[in-house]
Amino acid sequence: MGKIIILGSEKGGVAKTTSTYNLAYCLAKEGKKVLAVDFDSQANLSTCFGIEDIGAVPVTIGHLMMQRIEDEELPDAAEYIQSRNGVDFIPSSIMLSVVEAKLRLEMGAERMLAGILEPLKERYDYILVDTCPSLGSLTINALSAADGVIITVNPQLLAMMGLQDFLKTVKKIRGRINPGLHVEGILLTMCDARTNLCKVITEQVSETFQGQIRIFGSRIPSTVKVGESVYYSQPLVEYAPDSGACAAYQNLAKEVIADES
Ligand SMILES: Nc1ncnc2c1ncn2[C@@H]1O[C@H](COP(=O)(O)OP(=O)(O)OP(=O)(O)O)[C@@H](O)[C@H]1O
Ligand SMILES: [Mg+2]
Repeated sequence: MGKIIILGSEKGGVAKTTSTYNLAYCLAKEGKKVLAVDFDSQANLSTCFGIEDIGAVPVTIGHLMMQRIEDEELPDAAEYIQSRNGVDFIPSSIMLSVVEAKLRLEMGAERMLAGILEPLKERYDYILVDTCPSLGSLTINALSAADGVIITVNPQLLAMMGLQDFLKTVKKIRGRINPGLHVEGILLTMCDARTNLCKVITEQVSETFQGQIRIFGSRIPSTVKVGESVYYSQPLVEYAPDSGACAAYQNLAKEVIADES
């Protein structure tokens, strides 16, 4: 039975999408069957997977959410799951922002995404969900569907601000909707180990959460290779297999897998 892990943060631009994409391919390289779900109306993850004309995708996660809200039957998985170089994915589009507005008006709407993903769990080892940078109804839906959450933190961006709010939301969701929700750990991204700020903030995060929340040993270094690889719609394992960032994501995949044993 697969595990649903969401990559979340209340902040924007902290490498949620980059990490979802690269972790998906690194887990696949370890022999795992992976589904990546783009759950952000910006559809950045869909772009990473090489989708050029997002408006032309017939069934996105937004369509599926809308069908769930209307209590309609979902189409066959083959109609909405795409595949690229060994990783399956469900694309997103701007349609998801319409869903977000609708969710706010629906009763008991927190488990709509769970209803879509749970039947898919038996086909995959991991379902990774990329989320949008807010604590709105979409992120609540994602947290309600998840077994685990990886919180991405960029030490450059006043990392501690907002992290407590995110954790408070996780706690509420665990208490009220999804008792199985587990914080897998905090992933430090875009770390430039040479800068003092990075060191200071990394220490601050470690001290604050020591003994409570795991800080992944894998820290993702800052590198231009990430932007380049996205431009070419290739994961780091293909575009820059010898880069430090690729090694860090490969280690992260091993840390995630080690949790199961
Ligand atoms: N390790 C890295 N080194 C350098 N640049 C990076 C790294 N990781 C991500 N980036 C860049 O930082 C920017 C933000 O990354 P990304 O889109 O993954 O963040 P996000 O948290 O998903 O953002 P949003 O909140 O808007 O969804 C992108 O331009 C990406 O290419
Ligand atoms: Mg993103």
